[in-house]
Amino acid sequence: MRIGVLTGGGDCPGLNAVIRAVVRRSIVTYEYDVLGVRNGWKGMIDGDVEPLGLYAVSGILHRGGTILGTSRTNPMKNKDDVRRLMDNMQRYEIDALCAVGGNDTLHVALELFNRGVKVVGIPKTIDNDILGTDFTFGFNTAVTIVTEAIDRLHTTAESHHRVMVVEVMGRHSGWIAVMSGIAGGADMILIPEVPFDLNKVCDTLKKRHKQKKFSILVVAEGAVPTDGELVLAGEGTDEFGNVRLGGIGQVLGHEIEKRSGIETRVTILGHIQRGGSPTAYDRILATRFGVRAVDAIAEGQFGKMVALRSEDIVLLDIEKAILENKKVDMRLYGIAEIFFG
Ligand code: F6P
Repeated sequence: MRIGVLTGGGDCPGLNAVIRAVVRRSIVTYEYDVLGVRNGWKGMIDGDVEPLGLYAVSGILHRGGTILGTSRTNPMKNKDDVRRLMDNMQRYEIDALCAVGGNDTLHVALELFNRGVKVVGIPKTIDNDILGTDFTFGFNTAVTIVTEAIDRLHTTAESHHRVMVVEVMGRHSGWIAVMSGIAGGADMILIPEVPFDLNKVCDTLKKRHKQKKFSILVVAEGAVPTDGELVLAGEGTDEFGNVRLGGIGQVLGHEIEKRSGIETRVTILGHIQRGGSPTAYDRILATRFGVRAVDAIAEGQFGKMVALRSEDIVLLDIEKAILENKKVDMRLYGIAEIFFG
């Protein structure tokens, strides 16, 4: 048996831990061969593959990014690409594929499964917005990075009596904003799930500044005002139709300063949240996902995705996982709200 493994979409800490686990489990437990596919689906279209042995994956557990590279290539956009991808599966004698990625990568995995490809999905997104799994790896690292940033911003906010706006990732879901906001003691958290009223935000901040002379406001990049639209970082979309978000922090900072009269500064954490070494939690989760995915292949369970449910790693249909994005649990947001203002 020969397994292909690829990483698609935006990178995140823990991808190398998954690759390492897939290779180890394959070789040590089942004596399978593993081929690494470079740069997501692009590598499968181009036939850009490399054999992955135990030596190739040693020493990568703690490293951020992905040794295989990644891309947002969508092979389904072009019939010729699908044909080349299928041909390469045959040419390199890949019997089963481990597709590590977010919603877009998993959509392609499902399409391929429906065309007869033996594929198992491993959910990956820094945004933690994949349905059916309690957490995705990389998310815990991002929350840790943002929490540390908020702690640092607290001291300078307090010294200068300023509002600090912190813009974090979260395209459709505000998981990073809510979790890091709770951990960092944010005074306001704005997320895509709950459109915000700018006047109310300013009123809350002004009221707070009568007592406390500083505030920390965490905003997810996909947050929208009740009377406004998403703020985009540029024009165009990627091959899956995703717009590029970014800039809501600047818009907010400007408006808050203008409307409240309180000096305001903006920090956009951007890709810092996705870079560097994964936390221990993410290394362990990624390892468990990788091992279970290979077990699923050995059991002949295809068209499935591995997922964390409570203490267990389970399998569920990819079809169910990609129905929609997983939204922030409003009970959690309710807890965050207790500390607003
Ligand atoms: O989908 C994960 C994500 O990190 C989003 O939070 C963010 O909007 C996007 O990727 C950024 O993508 P890119 O790396 O292509 O700039």
